[in-house]
Amino acid sequence: MSSTASTSKILVIDDNPTNLEVLCGALDGQGYELLVEMDGHGGIEQAQTNKPNLILLDVMMPGINGFETCQILKENPTTREIPVIFMTALTETENKVRGLKLGAVDYITKPFQQEEVIARIQVHLQLHQVTQELAAQKAQLEERVQVRTADLTQALEELKAAHLSIVQSEKMSSLGQLVAGIAHEINNPVNFINGNMAHLEDYAEGALKLLELYRTHYPNGDAEIEELAEDIELDFLQEDFPKVMSSMRLGIQRISEIVTGLRNFSRHDEAEMKPVNIHEGIDSTLLILQHRFKPHPDRPKIEIIQDYGKLPNVECYAGALNQVIMNLVGNAIDSIEETNQPGQIIIQTCPVQETHVQIRIKDTGTGIKDEIRDKIFDPFFTTKPIGKGTGLGLSISYKIVTEKHGGTLTCSSQVGEGTEFLIEIPVHQSSHAESCSPNSLRDSLREAFTA
Ligand SMILES: Nc1ncnc2c1ncn2[C@@H]1O[C@H](COP(=O)(O)OP(=O)(O)O)[C@@H](O)[C@H]1O
Ligand SMILES: [Mg+2]
Repeated sequence: MSSTASTSKILVIDDNPTNLEVLCGALDGQGYELLVEMDGHGGIEQAQTNKPNLILLDVMMPGINGFETCQILKENPTTREIPVIFMTALTETENKVRGLKLGAVDYITKPFQQEEVIARIQVHLQLHQVTQELAAQKAQLEERVQVRTADLTQALEELKAAHLSIVQSEKMSSLGQLVAGIAHEINNPVNFINGNMAHLEDYAEGALKLLELYRTHYPNGDAEIEELAEDIELDFLQEDFPKVMSSMRLGIQRISEIVTGLRNFSRHDEAEMKPVNIHEGIDSTLLILQHRFKPHPDRPKIEIIQDYGKLPNVECYAGALNQVIMNLVGNAIDSIEETNQPGQIIIQTCPVQETHVQIRIKDTGTGIKDEIRDKIFDPFFTTKPIGKGTGLGLSISYKIVTEKHGGTLTCSSQVGEGTEFLIEIPVHQSSHAESCSPNSLRDSLREAFTA
């Protein structure tokens, strides 16, 4: 601390030349740099420009007195911290109290006792320096706390996101298994019925022909036969039977298609990247959402337009990509339903320079307001009522497209007109695929923990 003395600037504000002389004499040779002003205004100006380490301030001065000077110094942020010591006559207790109340740190009494003056000045210079060091340390500490808090907050966010992906991928994987299981189980009986349908049609046709022949050759049958023919409405039966058969055939074909769609959707081989036909994925996803396009008294009609370009097979996690399409088309349906007007969803695909493909999903729904455009990809952000929206669809889709496939997912929208989401992914996954193995989730979680 002894270095303080050699570098400290002391400003003396006093109008009395005798006092100044005595003080300067006392402080001379102590290694201080002395600044002198003879009135309050000059003192304030000097304090502002030269930033002394300490101010010795006289009370009685022409112009503004010491109290007013002190008040102005304490109100100004640039001079507020400079310690002020009042100089007052021994008897003026009132002045001492007033000065201290105004923010002075001490007083010295006239006539000056040299040693006392020097001792007090030293004490306050040291105090001031320690206070300043403390303040600096405090600021440093606060800054460190802020940095740490930011680090922790980020780690927490990452952890939450990693957790979210794990939960979601678990959910999707069990959904995928369920769908694949059901599809597999239904597949056998469906094939069974499908295969027998042809025989059934043949047999029924034969039997009906035979009946027809009987009726032609023996028009006047026995009364009991006639009665039964009437009971079972034979004429109608003969006419309706082929219709029943063909409607059953349609039904069974439809189930077959659905089973194929389900298998395609679940793509149980999805743990690996494989070159797949993107259009098959889109079609099977649309099949699963089919029930939401069907006309319904409470819902507007939604027309789906598929405008497919010529795409190469694309190396991707087919199941995950189908999930993205499902989320985007699901949102498009929600948005059109919100308008209460019939609408359209256009699904467009096209190649980009042989290296990438684009999938656009465009709707004529509500559009997205500017103020929430930045938030829609955030986990848990939703504008839908509780129970309807989870706010997870887009954040997961974003992760799947960008992290799993090295692609981009962007959105453009006009309120009142609609929204378009654009997926662009590379046709081939190079080094990128490596870093996005299913293990990478676990790795990112581990990183978040150790961060
Ligand atoms: N096609 C769209 N049209 C209008 N708003 C949309 C569309 N897609 C997404 N949004 C907005 O983004 C939000 C987040 O979507 P998402 O992450 O899928 O969660 P959720 O559908 O559960 O709300 C939605 O609540 C909605 O406000
Ligand atoms: Mg959604």
